[in-house]
Amino acid sequence: MYRTHTCGELRIQNKANKVTLAGWVQRIRELGAMTFIDLRDRYGITQLVVDEKSADDVKKITSELGREFVIRVEGEVKERSSKNTRIDTGDIEIAVENITVLNKSDLPPFTIEDNSDGGDDLRMKYRYLDLRRNPLKQALALRHKMAQEVRKYLDSQNFLEIETPYLIKSTPEGARDFVVPSRVNAGEFYALPQSPQTFKQILMVAGYDRYFQIVRCFRDEDLRADRQPEFTQIDCEMSFVEQKDILSMFEGLARHLFKNVLNVELDNVPQMLYADAMKYYGCDKPDIRFDMKISEITELVKNSGFSVFDNAEYTGAICAKNCGAYTRRQIDELTEWVKRPQIGASGLIYIKLGEDGIKSSIDKFFTTEQLQKIADKTEAQNGDLILILCGKKTKTQSMLGSLRLELGNRLGLRAVNKFAPLWIVDFPLFEWDDETQRFYAMHHPFTSPKPEDVNKFYSNKNEDIGSVNANAYDFVVNGVELGGGSIRIFDRKLQQRMFEILGFTPEAAESQFGFLMNAFKYGAPPHGGIAFGFDRFCAMFGGSDSIRDYIAFPKNNSGRDVMIDSPSPIDNVQLEELSLKVDIKKK
Ligand code: AMO
Repeated sequence: MYRTHTCGELRIQNKANKVTLAGWVQRIRELGAMTFIDLRDRYGITQLVVDEKSADDVKKITSELGREFVIRVEGEVKERSSKNTRIDTGDIEIAVENITVLNKSDLPPFTIEDNSDGGDDLRMKYRYLDLRRNPLKQALALRHKMAQEVRKYLDSQNFLEIETPYLIKSTPEGARDFVVPSRVNAGEFYALPQSPQTFKQILMVAGYDRYFQIVRCFRDEDLRADRQPEFTQIDCEMSFVEQKDILSMFEGLARHLFKNVLNVELDNVPQMLYADAMKYYGCDKPDIRFDMKISEITELVKNSGFSVFDNAEYTGAICAKNCGAYTRRQIDELTEWVKRPQIGASGLIYIKLGEDGIKSSIDKFFTTEQLQKIADKTEAQNGDLILILCGKKTKTQSMLGSLRLELGNRLGLRAVNKFAPLWIVDFPLFEWDDETQRFYAMHHPFTSPKPEDVNKFYSNKNEDIGSVNANAYDFVVNGVELGGGSIRIFDRKLQQRMFEILGFTPEAAESQFGFLMNAFKYGAPPHGGIAFGFDRFCAMFGGSDSIRDYIAFPKNNSGRDVMIDSPSPIDNVQLEELSLKVDIKKK
């Protein structure tokens, strides 16, 4: 028998028990004739003791142990003379009577402690060692718990878990596809799904009115802390529903997860119009843990003789509460922060409402009364600091949004254990791209226009089409887009018009999406759905900005798996089989 107990299990009540444990050697400490070994497994750490009374072979084997050796020990549970209150097994230790080395280990390239000394790349290369560390174990256990609770809730609501294929068809919308060459069909390719979107809609046509799947999705896009090329969605679809039904069902899912995983009771989830999110928070995923809304002051500051404001399409301000005493240095530092290329502002204007009256960097152009008007507009009071940016409208709003978040960080207004969820609704259906001179679907091409905007959807004027709102929604928590979805188009004609606006010829639409259009001929019910970023949900619950540690085997920033060294070249035989061999001579 390898073990009678795990390394996290024994307590003072087990005193005098004879036990067998197996695990990894975490640490060896020698104190005179005594050797202490921390034995670790998935469940915890138990201290082993070998002393002068131990048998000679036990002493010999102990003297040859190294970090991460896999051993099995038999011994008696004893009460420790000096207890360790930081671990659950800290009251006891095992007096070793027998020890077997099950496997030796090379010296690991970094310490397997809560705070490892290994850099990112090294830890990724030896992921199996990194995964032995507590923070990663906790992250994967959290992910497991989340998946169980997702299934519990959705099962209780009559959802069926149905798998959809991974080898599908390339679609030109959204991110780039990962493609897989077909050996049997020379010169042809599958694509890996960016999401199971069309399949779940087809399941609705097939009558499976509540579907879900915890499913891998693949997108060939640039990586960030919250993006991986393969990631997991909680993908859901429902028939015979309107937007409000979906919002309430999935608010229920969020509430269930918060309660059962974190023991947090969610308040009602507010809804915010996309237009208001942009106007007051400068982004479509506002962090509403704190207020500090953006105020537009364009008209208030125009024609003052200050050319920067006079020439600006938009001027906006935010009020940082109780920051009126900021020093010159602090303001200079914020100015440098907004001027970094990632933000791109050309300068930052301030108004301080201090003990000794109003002071600003624009005193030359504005009277105290005028400055007070700006203060009133931003609801600033004595002791506050107003920060102002101006320029092109959307760009400036977005810069103010970033500055707001930065101030939130600096002022400690973004506590990780506080959760502020909300729905963003009424997104525009399309985005216009100047470069390619065409519309793109803001969510995806299966999203329906708001019923009241259908006339504009059929208009041939770009400004009408550009102003159509979508029956779409995002679920946002603490400034992170955790999920998004829409009520779908289920009418063939409407779907055809959508493809037309997106620049598809009827032939291209037929070849890309003919299967869906055909399905729509056979009684497609009204339907809609949502997908949550499962990795992001887990990272949020774990209090992290990065999804990497919530994925057992993630890719690095260049999209590589450095452990298995992938992607990698394949040999000529394989290339030939796949009809991919490039004939260099012919070229
Ligand atoms: P969308 O593209 O908004 O919608 O994706 C849904 C959610 O998936 C997460 N997400 C990601 N997570 C990690 N890495 C990525 N590269 C990544 N990309 C997206 C986000 C996002 O909110 N089929 C539609 C859903 C629907 O309409 O039902 C879809 O995929 O949290």
